[in-house]
Amino acid sequence: AVPGSSADRDNSMGINLNNDEQLRALAKQVDAIEADWRAMPLVPGASTSGAQVPVTNPADRRQVVGRWQSSDAGTIERALCNAVEAQPGWDATPVDTRAAMLERAADLLEARMPQYIAMCTREAGKTIPDGVAEVREAVDFLRYYAGEARKLFVPDPLPGPTGETNTLQHAGRGVFACISPWNFPLAIFVGQVAAALAAGNSVLAKPAEQTNLVGFAAVKLLHEAGIPDKVLQFLPGDGATVGAALTSDPRVSGVVFTGSNATALAINRALAARDGAIGVLIAETGGQNALIADSSALPEQLVKDALASAFTSAGQRCSAARVLFVQDDIADHVIDMLTGAMAELKVGDPALLSTDVGPVIDEDALRMLEAHAERMAGEARLIAQAAMDDDTAHGTYFAPRAWELQSLSQLKRENFGPALHVIRWKGEELDAVIDAINSTGYGLTLGIHSRIDDTVERIAARARVGNVYVNRNQIGAVVGVQPFGGQRLSGTGPKAGGPHYLPRFATEKTVTINT
Ligand code: NAD
Ligand code: ALA
Repeated sequence: AVPGSSADRDNSMGINLNNDEQLRALAKQVDAIEADWRAMPLVPGASTSGAQVPVTNPADRRQVVGRWQSSDAGTIERALCNAVEAQPGWDATPVDTRAAMLERAADLLEARMPQYIAMCTREAGKTIPDGVAEVREAVDFLRYYAGEARKLFVPDPLPGPTGETNTLQHAGRGVFACISPWNFPLAIFVGQVAAALAAGNSVLAKPAEQTNLVGFAAVKLLHEAGIPDKVLQFLPGDGATVGAALTSDPRVSGVVFTGSNATALAINRALAARDGAIGVLIAETGGQNALIADSSALPEQLVKDALASAFTSAGQRCSAARVLFVQDDIADHVIDMLTGAMAELKVGDPALLSTDVGPVIDEDALRMLEAHAERMAGEARLIAQAAMDDDTAHGTYFAPRAWELQSLSQLKRENFGPALHVIRWKGEELDAVIDAINSTGYGLTLGIHSRIDDTVERIAARARVGNVYVNRNQIGAVVGVQPFGGQRLSGTGPKAGGPHYLPRFATEKTVTINT
């Protein structure tokens, strides 16, 4: 890193929610967001004339927080031409210059943290602590990939016995489509874009339909930090139209995608069907994440961590715990404590600091969770259901719930929301529990609560997952510290925020000179 640059710093500190002054600044920003917030394609040379679609607050659907406009076919074509034209110049830009722009964006974002937290609350229904984590992670991604690029894009002399000079050189792949989900509208959106840009690619950024406003604000900030407007373009729109148009176009060299497993498979097929182009896919998808607790677990800590893992961000984290496997001799006690703890959860307006669980993202998400609850009513025992505040009537809220199941096979797919399932197991069944978890095909996070080292090692070694957390919660991976991502149905790897991520966005060239 350049001495004195922001890449020298540790992870972002965020804001101190115990500090009254910082809190007042934040509250002012949340209140200041008016209905005239706009998002539209950012594509030089194109003019989009589509309808303005209203965006409503998940906490209160009567409140319009802004409007967005989709990218039409002409805009997408213009964006592709711009991206192809701009990429070689960006790739030839010294890596220090590229990295310094990302670091400047990190500094700007950190300085404007309250504004971006407020946006995440208004458009995505994030609680304030979630908003803080979201902006911090975005800042961290910008600094981390800038730092990694400075290391990677320096030609690497190779040893050898031949008397020749051999170097391994990295360059951008070309045009990258960055396709992101709504549940981390800033962190994942910025993380994908930062990695692709740091590696010398031009970028077509397509946010999730639900969170165009936050994505638009992030791209404006990156442009302000110096990223040229043809190098980074913003293409809001539906997955099935804008997303599919990008992934099926042979001018796109790579796609970085985070979202559902079904969409990752659709993108994989679209890339494979193109004539005359082999595209790279970096995909991070969902999970059916388990937490295994044996009888040596500390019940208070287990319940606290299970609650945080299952219900933080209204359970809308790919890392969230969906199934708690608890050993039978402590199960009744743990279930009692879980019931008591869930009665204390405050479900309501995410703009209030006292809120633990905010709304889910939209009506579709709510309908899917309600359908799941209906199915569970017929085949599981409801352990607990949190109460909701009176002010939830106009939002898309789903009361956090926990059910007791007989078997993991009762869950057919990821239930993306505040829904926890508890299954009892007997001491001799540990291997069968691990096999059942592996047999879902997913492999994202796994929590273990045990004070027995052999048990921890045995589970960690056999579980086919990407991130294992022992005696703590299983969410909130820290950039550069806990590289994050799954295996098998949960993603292609390598991990976001880890040292092997950036090379996937680059080509490698070996140059051999006979000296
Ligand atoms: P989604 O798959 O519905 O959408 C994700 C993105 O893909 C959106 O931008 C969408 O417009 C786009 N898209 C949809 N169809 C497309 C197509 N045919 N071609 C191209 N793009 C298309 O997912 P979501 O509902 O927005 O996000 C929730 C999912 O994301 C959950 O499954 C969650 O587990 C997963 N997720 C994973 C991680 C991770 O790091 N592993 C992180 C966050 C979320
Ligand atoms: N990186 C996010 C987490 O760890 C998804 O919770």
